Amino acid sequence: MPTVFVLNGPNLNLLGMREPGVYGAQTLADVEALCRDAAATHGWSVDFRQSNHEGALVDWIHEAARGHATGEVTGVILNAGAYTHTSVALHDAMKAVAVPVVEVHISNVHARAPFRHHSYLSPVAAGIVVGFGANGYVLAIEGLARRDAPHSTVAKKGKTGKAKR
Ligand code: DQA
Repeated sequence: MPTVFVLNGPNLNLLGMREPGVYGAQTLADVEALCRDAAATHGWSVDFRQSNHEGALVDWIHEAARGHATGEVTGVILNAGAYTHTSVALHDAMKAVAVPVVEVHISNVHARAPFRHHSYLSPVAAGIVVGFGANGYVLAIEGLARRDAPHSTVAKKGKTGKAKR
């Protein structure tokens, strides 16, 4: 069964009790359940992981890329937490590999402190989902699933330019 890697960075193990006004009440286990349900609708399984260590995230991106090369891994959903704003190593890892990586943030980082506005990952991400809470992971999986047919509505347009139903 094709697998989507869902990788979580530092402090995301504390979801549910960490700043609930910013990150919500859902725990990381709740996020995992959301991801499994979303992936299952596409016939995918989920490899769900969390680490507080930057190098582990780098290793996992490499691992996902090897799986992608053999057709076993469809893509990566990555919430790199604070490493988003600091990590050249994660930028380089994402740039080095062919597996699509969707960057996710639970909070709207652009509505927060200026140091959260810059992402080293965004320029090398397949897409970005920001500010939709835990549902952002679901949207990211959906985005990954639609990448193969990203312009399906456009393709159905007639000469009028209006989408056919
Ligand atoms: C976060 C946003 C980051 O700025 C922060 O360091 C996190 C979580 C989010 O999901 O909103 O740890 O990635």
